[in-house]
Amino acid sequence: MNNIENLIKNLNEEQKEAVLSTEGPNLIVAGAGSGKTRVLTTRLIHIINEKKAWPNQILCVTFTNKAAKEMQNRVMQYVKGSSNAVPWLGTFHSISVKFLRRHAEALGYKSNFTILDTEDQKKLIRNIVKGEDLDAKKFSPQLIMYHIDQWKNKGLMPNDVKIVIFHHATYFPKSGLK
Ligand SMILES: Nc1ncnc2c1ncn2[C@@H]1O[C@H](COP(=O)(O)OP(=O)(O)OP(=O)(O)O)[C@@H](O)[C@H]1O
Ligand SMILES: [Mg+2]
Repeated sequence: MNNIENLIKNLNEEQKEAVLSTEGPNLIVAGAGSGKTRVLTTRLIHIINEKKAWPNQILCVTFTNKAAKEMQNRVMQYVKGSSNAVPWLGTFHSISVKFLRRHAEALGYKSNFTILDTEDQKKLIRNIVKGEDLDAKKFSPQLIMYHIDQWKNKGLMPNDVKIVIFHHATYFPKSGLK
């Protein structure tokens, strides 16, 4: 196990202040390559070491996978435990999908749901448009994806959208209106 005191000792004064002030919110603004990630990682190690929080009580969100991996590796060297030392350390996307899988049943999904990337989404829409005998020129994947996005933002579920009115065409589902 590496020595945490040395880790803190090697920081500059501003970094030290940011690491050691664990009460209340902190905003750290510093230039590229000036030691922000090092501050965050050391702060994480310090909080765990001081038992101010259990690793699974810490939510740590990074922008890139690279940063998440770096922080996870770094924490591992100082904190006993599995390779996944801080379970809720990751990118916004990886943490969100983990959270959704864990609680999928609350939304009526199974935890092994698939996430479609943009290309998969387009392919699926093209297949549906074909299957419904719709004019592929009028119902482009981009147009439909735009509307789905709007509905999702409004919190509408598939059953809430019965008649679909696009700019260029109106679509009545084959199954009829309920
Ligand atoms: N006080 C320090 N003394 C010596 N080296 C340091 C110190 N702080 C950070 N470093 C080193 O400087 C390099 C850059 O640090 P770090 O990755 O934490 O910066 P950053 O601000 O997060 O960078 P980026 O803007 O690229 O995200 C790393 O190799 C780190 O170990
Ligand atoms: Mg960084």
